[in-house]
Amino acid sequence: MMYLNKIKTVVFAWMVFLHSTNVASSCPSECRCFGFSGDWIADCSTQNLTQIPSGFAENTTEIFLQNNLISTLPENAFSNLTKLKFLYLHNNNISEIAPAVFADPSLTLKYLTLHDNQIRILPGDVFAGMSDLIVLNLNNNLLNSLPPSLVRNLTGIVQISFSGNNLSSIDDVTFDDLSKLKYIGLSNNKLRSLPQNWGNIAPDLYSIDYSGNNLETLPPVPSTANQIYATGNSISTLSSSSFANATELYEMFLSLNRISAIENDTFLGATSLGWLDLSGNAMERVDDFTFDHLSKLQGLYLAYNEPLSSISSHAFEGFNETIYRLSFDSCNFTWIDADIIASLTNKQLVIWMGNNPWNCDCNLQDVVELVQSSPSKFYDLNQITCQNPDDVKGKKMTTVDSKSRCSPAPITKAYSELGLAIGLSIAAAVVFVVIVGFLINARTAKIINRNRQQTERTSRQDEVASVL
Ligand SMILES: *[C@@H]1O[C@H](CO)[C@@H](O)[C@H](O)[C@H]1NC(C)=O
Ligand SMILES: *[C@@H]1O[C@H](CO)[C@@H](O)[C@H](O)[C@H]1NC(C)=O
Ligand SMILES: *[C@@H]1O[C@H](CO)[C@@H](O)[C@H](O)[C@H]1NC(C)=O
Ligand SMILES: *[C@@H]1O[C@H](CO)[C@@H](O)[C@H](O)[C@H]1NC(C)=O
Ligand SMILES: *[C@@H]1O[C@H](CO)[C@@H](O)[C@H](O)[C@H]1NC(C)=O
Ligand SMILES: *[C@@H]1O[C@H](CO)[C@@H](O)[C@H](O)[C@H]1NC(C)=O
Ligand SMILES: *[C@@H]1O[C@H](CO)[C@@H](O)[C@H](O)[C@H]1NC(C)=O
Ligand SMILES: *[C@@H]1O[C@H](CO)[C@@H](O)[C@H](O)[C@H]1NC(C)=O
Ligand SMILES: *[C@@H]1O[C@H](CO)[C@@H](O)[C@H](O)[C@H]1NC(C)=O
Ligand SMILES: *[C@@H]1O[C@H](CO)[C@@H](O)[C@H](O)[C@H]1NC(C)=O
Repeated sequence: MMYLNKIKTVVFAWMVFLHSTNVASSCPSECRCFGFSGDWIADCSTQNLTQIPSGFAENTTEIFLQNNLISTLPENAFSNLTKLKFLYLHNNNISEIAPAVFADPSLTLKYLTLHDNQIRILPGDVFAGMSDLIVLNLNNNLLNSLPPSLVRNLTGIVQISFSGNNLSSIDDVTFDDLSKLKYIGLSNNKLRSLPQNWGNIAPDLYSIDYSGNNLETLPPVPSTANQIYATGNSISTLSSSSFANATELYEMFLSLNRISAIENDTFLGATSLGWLDLSGNAMERVDDFTFDHLSKLQGLYLAYNEPLSSISSHAFEGFNETIYRLSFDSCNFTWIDADIIASLTNKQLVIWMGNNPWNCDCNLQDVVELVQSSPSKFYDLNQITCQNPDDVKGKKMTTVDSKSRCSPAPITKAYSELGLAIGLSIAAAVVFVVIVGFLINARTAKIINRNRQQTERTSRQDEVASVL
């Protein structure tokens, strides 16, 4: 529908150019009217109109009345316009709406814009006869509540939005029986709760936007929902019950909440999740069990979790091949296991990890070398700097000469395994030689051992006692 709107604007500009002559007899004097591919269009936009003009031709299919100063919608403004499909009333000064303005049963309006007006109160049945309506936009008004019956008869509605109002609650039955509904916009209100069961009510729901509200818990994601926008609420914990039925969920936006805890198995039901934005929350760590079910994840955003300082080693294994956008910049990392990054194999992988207090000592050498050997993987390379140790404070990780700083070169895995093998062989040989004598002295050895343990235990207890 957004596309449709844009296309219409473009086509419209072109039509104005082609048809700048008035067809006066069938057109209000304040408007310009013209035909276009079977439609009859009245353009009355941006004329400083304070009321709706009269005299529209009965075959009018579209009326542009946006960008005026209209403040009331009177009873018969659109009566008898049986062909009218598109009515644009946005960006006016509308505050008064006659209850029956759209009640004419012969009206078959499909597209109605009322956004950016001054509507504080909507008559409960004002849309009751509009079963043909597909799009209704009431964004940016002054609505404090929605009458429970307001949208009940909009059986054809696909996209409905009340963003940017002052709604504090939505009655559970508000969206009853809207079988075609795909998109609900409720962002930037004051909502503290949402209907819990609208997945059952609107069986085709695809996208819900309730960002910028006051929700403290995430309502259950409907089983058909593909996108959920929940940015900018007050959600503090995520639990699996919210995602139990979320099998179609593909994009989940949860940035700018207060999430500090994510329960194990939270995302068990979200089997299709591709994008998860958790940036700007209060997470402290990512456990192995936090995201392990997300086998299709392509993007994970963890930036601006200011306390976040640890990601456990296997946390990203579940999506090591699919993920290609990963951010944990502007957190509190001093160290991370290099294998976590090295095991992500998608060729398009881009990582953000700057603005962290990295401690570029020899424990981080593998990460430093990874950054230096694959700089193209790191989007914010210039922000990846060291806070410690002192001799590299403030330096970019790309410029740290860790090879000479950490000489002798730290033992790599392969070397350490070889070393272990040699050590074990020698130990085995020694044990073999000594074992006979050892067996003879076993009893003595046991006693000595026990005594030694006792001594250790006592001295440790002494230490603890002295600390206390
Ligand atoms: C609509 O009606 C006007 C006259 O009232 C006429 O000029 C015009 O051709 C009609 N347009 C269409 C598309 O029927
Ligand atoms: C509408 O009013 C504004 C401010 O008074 C004026 O600048 C503008 O030209 C008017 N537009 C029309 C189409 O009359
Ligand atoms: C609508 O049409 C009917 C019959 O053509 C007419 O009686 C009525 O006055 C019209 N209403 C308006 C508001 O124009
Ligand atoms: C908007 O409507 C109110 C009355 O509802 C009126 O007082 C105000 O002057 C109008 N504003 C403009 C810019 O027309
Ligand atoms: C809602 O639609 C039903 C069925 O089409 C109809 O009977 C009822 O009158 C409508 N409600 C209102 C308030 O118009
Ligand atoms: C918005 O709603 C709150 C109650 O939730 C109310 O106190 C406040 O006055 C409303 N604001 C406006 C501008 O109507
Ligand atoms: C999941 O869907 C089933 C069947 O539609 C329903 O009974 C159950 O309550 C839903 N669970 C949650 C947590 O929404
Ligand atoms: C998650 O599960 C693991 C393994 O079962 C367990 O060790 C850990 O304590 C659990 N974490 C939470 C927050 O329940
Ligand atoms: C970041 O970690 C340091 C310890 O390394 C701690 O003192 C500090 O409080 C942490 N900052 C936040 C915002 O959690
Ligand atoms: C990615 O994970 C799969 C199993 O989840 C594992 O078999 C594979 O070895 C991993 N790849 C890397 C590079 O770690």
